[in-house]
Amino acid sequence: MQNRKYTIAVVPGDGIGVEVMPSALRCLEVASHQFGFTLEFRHFDWASCTYYNKHGSMLPKDWKPLLQACDAILFGAVGDPATVPDHISLWGSILTFRREFDQYINLRPCRLMPGVPSPLAGREPGSIDFITVRENTEGEYSSIGGKIFEGTERETVIQNTVFTRIGVDRVIRYAFEQARGRKAKKLTSATKSNGISITMPYWDERVAEIAKEYPDIEVEKYHIDILCAHFVQRPHTFDVVVGSNLFGDILSDLGPACTGTIGIAPSANLNPTAKGGKGDKEWMPSLFEPVHGSAPDIAGKGTANPVGMIWAAQMMIEHLGEKQAADAMLHAIEKVLGAEKAGGLSNVLTPDMGGKGDTESLGKAVENELANIK
Ligand code: NAI
Ligand code: MG
Repeated sequence: MQNRKYTIAVVPGDGIGVEVMPSALRCLEVASHQFGFTLEFRHFDWASCTYYNKHGSMLPKDWKPLLQACDAILFGAVGDPATVPDHISLWGSILTFRREFDQYINLRPCRLMPGVPSPLAGREPGSIDFITVRENTEGEYSSIGGKIFEGTERETVIQNTVFTRIGVDRVIRYAFEQARGRKAKKLTSATKSNGISITMPYWDERVAEIAKEYPDIEVEKYHIDILCAHFVQRPHTFDVVVGSNLFGDILSDLGPACTGTIGIAPSANLNPTAKGGKGDKEWMPSLFEPVHGSAPDIAGKGTANPVGMIWAAQMMIEHLGEKQAADAMLHAIEKVLGAEKAGGLSNVLTPDMGGKGDTESLGKAVENELANIK
């Protein structure tokens, strides 16, 4: 019998991260009561610019064991560019977590929800439903390279792409596994082997090799440029889309953009093969966060859309193995967003979705919906 008691590190960060977190925690509380598991929240105010402005660093010295004592990390958003430069706040927090815990998968669902207008014409709710799987630790985002002859005519700048067999194989295999668990059983790989003639043919080779282990999965590949066009022209044809760090970065913003407001998009930074568990010295927990940042332009107004944060919490409990509760949470989100179409919830939805509601009203609506599901 599985121990269904989970310790969650709650790291709200800055700006609207702090504002949307309470809604997600309340929804999790309701889900845990409904489905009979226990959550212990550990609240941390670091990994924020507020903390940095007080202490001169983004993290306390013992941040790592504190997070390793938890099953998973629920993260809000970090950034206050008016007081701390973004490269300090991001590298000093979320990017440190991703690297130190080897969160090599960045996973984003792209799903057109009812009641959410798509910027693409003529799309019905549910007609877009795929996930992007981005390699999150190596590839084009390496620090290998340099500059020589600076300031002269011969100024030369080089940055190398790093593909390791381990790094490439594990993300591709993860994507195949995801495809296997879904209805359409289809994997699309992003490449550019016509132009990038060493690393990208290697990526393609590894996809082809690993595909042999998954004869039940349909595989296709497209160069990144036309793939972006396909995302816009026929998003309904995708199921699982896998890409290197750079291509995945592009696709994982474009995908959610095709399905409406950034305020509802969630993401997971996963180490799916982490060994051991909370409390172990080597434990590498995964992190769940909304796609959006701290939104200084609307921070303090109480009008931020909490759905991205709630949906991130939903991905977290799914990852922890609470599939039934996760399904119920997603259903509750869908029901609330869809209710607008049936008339009457415009006082609940936040302004980014054309409503007159606020963070509290929308969060509360999802919470109530969840309380009614059994
Ligand atoms: P942003 O996502 O914070 O905001 C972009 C636009 O979307 C803004 O107009 C904002 O008002 C709107 N928006 C975002 N989330 C919303 C929500 N939940 N409800 C309603 N409207 C929403 O991106 P931006 O402005 O580029 O960055 C602001 C700060 O956030 C920067 O310091 C940046 O570095 C940081 N950031 C942090 C991330 C993280 O913690 N993972 C990710 C992205 C940005
Ligand atoms: Mg991006």
